[in-house]
Amino acid sequence: MGTTAADFWRHNTDLRDITPRGERFPEVGLFDVLRSACQGVVFDFGCGDGRLSPAFDPDRYFGFDINATALKVARVTNPKHRYVTQWLPADTWLAWTVLLHVPDDELPAVLDGANRYSRIVVGEVMGRRWRREGEPPVFNREPEEYEAMFERPVMRMQVPYPRYGCDLTVLVFD
Ligand SMILES: C[S@@+](CC[C@H](N)C(=O)[O-])C[C@H]1O[C@@H](n2cnc3c(N)ncnc32)[C@H](O)[C@@H]1O
Repeated sequence: MGTTAADFWRHNTDLRDITPRGERFPEVGLFDVLRSACQGVVFDFGCGDGRLSPAFDPDRYFGFDINATALKVARVTNPKHRYVTQWLPADTWLAWTVLLHVPDDELPAVLDGANRYSRIVVGEVMGRRWRREGEPPVFNREPEEYEAMFERPVMRMQVPYPRYGCDLTVLVFD
């Protein structure tokens, strides 16, 4: 059996590509954007090493990931925040630079889970022109594709992402 995109992330013990190389916060105004997009208790899907956690009150935050090494680092770095290995109820489901790493055939199951939350926030570089094979492969999608999949009212925001000379698109679904 071949390896899947999820295998890459699950077994990525050197945490390669989990945080942006050489620049931990390349998104301009990241924490302000996160705070304005999310509401209530936040379920940070694909939280990685907890890079985003300090944007949120520890009492109103759960970080979730399939990479055990990343969760271990997150727990040490942010001892007051909670990190879990199962989906938990919350007000906002946040996926920040995560869904582009989920292959098309695995996406429906993830979206079914996300749809149980009242607010969904997806932030990443969007546009099929960014798709590429490799390690890890990326499966960028057009914003309209996510909008069609979630079928909810949406607010769109753009976050400058000078590292790639483009914007990162943020979709907030209610
Ligand atoms: C590029 S990192 C982003 C981490 C974090 N959101 C941030 O912005 O710093 C992608 C994260 O998604 C996680 N991930 C990938 N596929 C996943 C899946 N199917 N379920 C949960 N997490 C996943 C990876 O383990 C990795 O930590």
